[in-house]
Amino acid sequence: MKGFWNSTSIIPNITLSFIFFFICYFEDVLAVPPIKQHFLCRSEQRDALFAFENEFEIGEPNSDCVDFSTESHWNKESWENNSDCCSWKGIKCNTKSGEVVELDLSCSGLYGRFHSNSSLQNLHFLTTLDLSYNDLTGQIPDSIGNLTQLTSLQLFGNQFSGQIPSSIGNLFHLTSLNLLENNLDGEIPSSFGNLNQLTGLIVGGNKLRGNFPIVLLNLTGLLDLDISNNQFSGALPPNITSLSYLGSFFASYNAFTGTIPSTLFTIPFLVVFDLRDNQLNGTLEFGNTSSSPSNLQYLSLGSNNFKGSIPSSISKFVNLWCLELSHFDTQGRPIDFSIFSHFKSLEFLDLSYLNSTTTIDLFSYSKSLLILDLSCNHVSTTNKISVSNPPPQKIYSLSLSGCGITEFPELLRTLHGIELLDISNNKIQGQVPGWLWTLPNLTYVNLSNNTFIGFQRSNKKQGLSSLRKPSLRHLLGSNNNFTGKIPSFICELHSLNTLDLSENNFNGTIPPCLGNLNSTLSDLNLRQNNLSGGLPKDIFERLRSFDVGHNQLVEKLPRSLIHFSTLEVLNVEGNRINDTFPLWLSSLQKLQVLVLRSNAFHGPIHQAMFPQLRIIDISHNHFKGTLPTDYFVEWPAMSSLGTDENRPNVNYMGDKSGYYHDSMVLMNKGVELELVRILKIYTAIDFSGNKFEGEIPKSIGLLKELHVLNLSNNVFTGSIPSSMGNLKALESLDVSRNKLSGEIPQELGELSFLEYMNFSHNKLTGLVPGGTQFLTQPCSAFENNMGLFGHSFDEVCRDIQTPASHQQYKTPELEDEDEEVISWTAAAIGFIPGISFGFTIGYIFLSYKPKWFMNPFAETNVDGVQLTRETESEVLRFDNV
Ligand SMILES: *[C@@H]1O[C@H](CO)[C@@H](O)[C@H](O)[C@H]1NC(C)=O
Ligand SMILES: *[C@@H]1O[C@H](CO)[C@@H](O)[C@H](O)[C@H]1NC(C)=O
Ligand SMILES: *[C@@H]1O[C@H](CO)[C@@H](O)[C@H](O)[C@H]1NC(C)=O
Ligand SMILES: *[C@@H]1O[C@H](CO)[C@@H](O)[C@H](O)[C@H]1NC(C)=O
Ligand SMILES: *[C@@H]1O[C@H](CO)[C@@H](O)[C@H](O)[C@H]1NC(C)=O
Ligand SMILES: *[C@@H]1O[C@H](CO)[C@@H](O)[C@H](O)[C@H]1NC(C)=O
Ligand SMILES: *[C@@H]1O[C@H](CO)[C@@H](O)[C@H](O)[C@H]1NC(C)=O
Ligand SMILES: *[C@@H]1O[C@H](CO)[C@@H](O)[C@H](O)[C@H]1NC(C)=O
Ligand SMILES: *[C@@H]1O[C@H](CO)[C@@H](O)[C@H](O)[C@H]1NC(C)=O
Ligand SMILES: *[C@@H]1O[C@H](CO)[C@@H](O)[C@H](O)[C@H]1NC(C)=O
Repeated sequence: MKGFWNSTSIIPNITLSFIFFFICYFEDVLAVPPIKQHFLCRSEQRDALFAFENEFEIGEPNSDCVDFSTESHWNKESWENNSDCCSWKGIKCNTKSGEVVELDLSCSGLYGRFHSNSSLQNLHFLTTLDLSYNDLTGQIPDSIGNLTQLTSLQLFGNQFSGQIPSSIGNLFHLTSLNLLENNLDGEIPSSFGNLNQLTGLIVGGNKLRGNFPIVLLNLTGLLDLDISNNQFSGALPPNITSLSYLGSFFASYNAFTGTIPSTLFTIPFLVVFDLRDNQLNGTLEFGNTSSSPSNLQYLSLGSNNFKGSIPSSISKFVNLWCLELSHFDTQGRPIDFSIFSHFKSLEFLDLSYLNSTTTIDLFSYSKSLLILDLSCNHVSTTNKISVSNPPPQKIYSLSLSGCGITEFPELLRTLHGIELLDISNNKIQGQVPGWLWTLPNLTYVNLSNNTFIGFQRSNKKQGLSSLRKPSLRHLLGSNNNFTGKIPSFICELHSLNTLDLSENNFNGTIPPCLGNLNSTLSDLNLRQNNLSGGLPKDIFERLRSFDVGHNQLVEKLPRSLIHFSTLEVLNVEGNRINDTFPLWLSSLQKLQVLVLRSNAFHGPIHQAMFPQLRIIDISHNHFKGTLPTDYFVEWPAMSSLGTDENRPNVNYMGDKSGYYHDSMVLMNKGVELELVRILKIYTAIDFSGNKFEGEIPKSIGLLKELHVLNLSNNVFTGSIPSSMGNLKALESLDVSRNKLSGEIPQELGELSFLEYMNFSHNKLTGLVPGGTQFLTQPCSAFENNMGLFGHSFDEVCRDIQTPASHQQYKTPELEDEDEEVISWTAAAIGFIPGISFGFTIGYIFLSYKPKWFMNPFAETNVDGVQLTRETESEVLRFDNV
């Protein structure tokens, strides 16, 4: 489509304006004599359009447009001065008056602020305004309330922030208002009570709060109400039934409390009812729904605190298409599962975590099921497949995690449509059957946390070779009892994206044939096995995360790693890799996590630029040498450069599809902390247990985003740099067991997040800083120094005083140190335009693309894992029909 407009853009323009001209001419021909060059569009309307367009920058289309492959209705080339603006793409005019009545600039890559003085307000006659899926920022301007003819206002999928302007309440004609997925906060303005023509109000996916907006109860014509994914709280009002035409009600992912008013289910037209993930409690009642068969098709109440029995009156909702009741606490009661067999059109059923004693017969439900989640129930999988009781053939997602299953369910063999199978957290023993890999549509298998010992060899007939291309993309088998070599059939899974075989007893080498998967594999986790030999030398073009920690691997890091240009996480800890510091890894532009801990790395570590690095753990090796003063100058992801606006993509780690999240173990505050999902900003430097000497580089003070710093067990000398006072995010500081002298910089007393610190076993002297954090440390954090004293110190170390040192305390040094703090702050500022100008540009470029626009695995979304979202939009689509 795009290509079409680009290449032939002139032709349709001419034709269109000709047609418009023709229509005008024809309509007016009897009244007035024909005018040459008659444009329908009024010039002041055209000028307002030009001016409006000029208020914004134009960039790449919003990533949601790319994901949903939505085409823009706009076409900049068609906006020409010498053509009729009524013929421009994205514009519709009143065919009589020539006033612009519709403006559709959705998915047009517009970005920038939408100012209150915007020339949009000159388009007085607009009835439809669609600016959805752009990257507009700032507040929604008050002046939007001047467009009083508007019936449809679509601002979803932008980055509008601040409160919703109450002037929107002036738009009396509005029938559809959609503000979905912005950053709006505050409450819904009370002026919304005036919008009594409104049939659709969509404000989900913001940060709105307050009680359920009572004013909305005035909008009795509402058909669709979506307030999901916000921070609304309090109880749902029983008189919500005054919205008597309501067809869909989405209020999931909020903090509503109290019980669900049972009257709600008496709203006659209700088709969709979604309250999952709130804090609702009490028992569930569906009220008197007896009179007419209910229209309800979508009922989602999971992840609340409901208790008691599932009322059998639920079976009255005979038209249910989706039923989601996970975490409904039946308090150990038996459940009559036959009530679920009444739903003949049920396609999605989630009964996970019911806390019931009843053993569920797999597949005694609707034969139309597509998605079934029975996780954490007792499930019997041994029922016989018979002609009278065939399994649902259309099923494509089956979750049986934590169902107490002891044998691999043979009946899965007949489910040829299955795509996603989660059978983790069971007690299945023996071999993973070979036929599993021959299911033609399987893309995701989770076998984690069982007691499998091996993979059955599939016989030639039914083997992998009979498939054109195996569909499997995600194979997760961690924490089993697999032994022997990693089976080579895995190398034939030519679509494999994620391979997690961590926490098993695999031995032998990492199979070289894994190189066959170099163009698909993105996450490879072989952690905690007994693998030996070297790392594979193949180039994995798409590898994002590579974890081979805690094996017996030897040799050097293969230099081919330098070509893993998409690598974000490299973890080789706990092996016997004998190499020098891999300075050459600094060419990996995306590397965020580097863990070399506990190997035989040695030699000096030279200064290098790591553009995105935010966790580096090189502890327990044989590194040595001094670190130059400006060592940390080129680590922008941890430094002050990483402000919200130009921070590179560091705030989300993990494969976007949600299949896989990196986890790692990090020493923090003296305890091993498992970062299961490195989702939020976390930054750490661990250089401990080496032989670094000389001074601690003062440039450490640049790393304002640093959370954890461990330099213990080295031979650092000199004093602790006072520039560390800049590390406002620091939570844990360990400099114990070095040869540091001088004082502890007073500035450290002001670091309010610094919960853990350890200065012990050094040669420190002088006044220990005050501040509550210092006061709460145990004495061992300071023990074995030359002479520390001070109020906090005296408090905590009342028993082990070293009184002799009071006299040696000198003040002048303090001033020098202060100057240093200033000069290092200056260096931080100077750093932006100077040393790394190219980088800054790079960040600005990135910041226009807030999502993972370069994520090569975005396609994995297609698999349908974001079930709720998909099903929701399906309902919406359905509802709009
Ligand atoms: C369009 O034409 C008008 C009058 O001819 C002129 O004033 C205006 O600057 C032009 N606008 C653009 C965007 O070319
Ligand atoms: C609108 O306001 C912004 C800032 O508030 C200003 O930069 C801009 O020049 C104004 N535009 C017009 C057309 O007045
Ligand atoms: C409710 O709507 C009526 C008109 O239908 C209006 O007069 C009244 O002010 C509205 N109430 C609130 C609370 O906005
Ligand atoms: C609904 O009930 C609330 C109290 O729960 C009350 O404040 C409000 O006025 C009622 N609204 C309507 C329209 O009945
Ligand atoms: C439901 O209907 C029954 C009789 O049909 C009646 O006794 C009961 O009070 C009704 N319950 C509610 C909540 O209206
Ligand atoms: C690997 O483990 C298997 C089974 O435990 C054992 O028989 C074999 O000798 C081991 N091989 C190596 C190279 O350690
Ligand atoms: C590393 O390898 C070198 C020679 O290549 C050897 O001399 C040294 O002992 C090894 N270090 C360790 C800790 O194995
Ligand atoms: C696999 O299952 C385990 C156990 O239920 C779970 O923790 C893990 O997140 C799953 N892995 C993926 C990638 O879905
Ligand atoms: C710092 O590293 C040392 C040695 O690796 C370790 O013993 C200590 O617990 C670590 N400190 C913190 C605060 O994690
Ligand atoms: C500080 O470090 C020393 C040596 O590394 C250790 O013995 C001591 O327990 C640590 N103190 C605290 C409070 O963790």
